Amino acid sequence: MEIYITGAHGQVGRELARQARAGGHRVHALGRQDLDLRALTEDPFTSTNRAVILNAAAYTDVDGAEDPAHAEEVWQVNAEAPGALAQLAQRRGWSFIHLSTDYVHGGRTGPEVHRIPEGPIEPADRPINAYGRSKLAGEEAVMQAGGVVVRTSWVHSGPHQPGRDFVVTMLQLAQRGVDPKVVADQWGLPTYAADLAGGLLQLAERLAADGPQGDIVHAAGSGEPVSWYHFARAVFAAGGQDPDRVSPIPTAEY
Ligand SMILES: NC(=O)c1ccc[n+]([C@@H]2O[C@H](COP(=O)([O-])OP(=O)(O)OC[C@H]3O[C@@H](n4cnc5c(N)ncnc54)[C@H](OP(=O)(O)O)[C@@H]3O)[C@@H](O)[C@H]2O)c1
Repeated sequence: MEIYITGAHGQVGRELARQARAGGHRVHALGRQDLDLRALTEDPFTSTNRAVILNAAAYTDVDGAEDPAHAEEVWQVNAEAPGALAQLAQRRGWSFIHLSTDYVHGGRTGPEVHRIPEGPIEPADRPINAYGRSKLAGEEAVMQAGGVVVRTSWVHSGPHQPGRDFVVTMLQLAQRGVDPKVVADQWGLPTYAADLAGGLLQLAERLAADGPQGDIVHAAGSGEPVSWYHFARAVFAAGGQDPDRVSPIPTAEY
């Protein structure tokens, strides 16, 4: 299979590229320097073969997306570029897989998150922050162009992305003697990037064989949902540290 990966240096993109190469696929791993999604002026997909595009690029700084100074970039990368890429795929008859997020569901952040149905977002469940709104607009544009949307949550990947990985951040705090206060009223399903990448590649192989088909699916780690506080406690325990060093706080105090 020939496969284009955008955001190839991010948590998921990096793992996708690694596994796809290991699986013997022909991989075009596009980082920001190869393809800047703020200004999609040229068609980056030059192959004459049939290929699958996996869009793992996004503006992912949820708090940074609230800053009006970043609004244009957030919208270009998360809302506009996915639709434009999906259209390029559609014109070629290629499959397009787009990564999205649990943040498109605004109204539900409690332990019931894992029961949210796949598919379009109900009006009462629209996103409540700029990141979620931009990702939902991206989903809608991708669906219009016949792409497949894969929503995931709470991705962690190991020490490759300093500052982006919750598990590594907690381990570092534990080792530095810091006792963190961690949000206890937002729940989710932690997802290991390598597991997610494996599932995405299986999906890509199926689509490469069967052809493009628009759909929205959820792909996240299995098990019961946890709060960030529970997640942090588990990391401390796994790192041989006392989990009681982690204190719960509400989001409002974060
Ligand atoms: N992380 C999570 O917890 C999480 C949860 C749910 C869904 N998701 C979704 O999963 C996907 C992958 O996330 P991730 O965790 O791998 O995020 P990540 O580590 O932040 O990677 C995102 C990648 O997008 C690239 N990017 C940002 N702006 C760009 C631009 N203007 N042009 C081209 N590339 C650009 C970044 O490039 P640089 O490396 O140069 O910055 C980075 O490599 C995203 O769609 C995200 O919304 C993530």
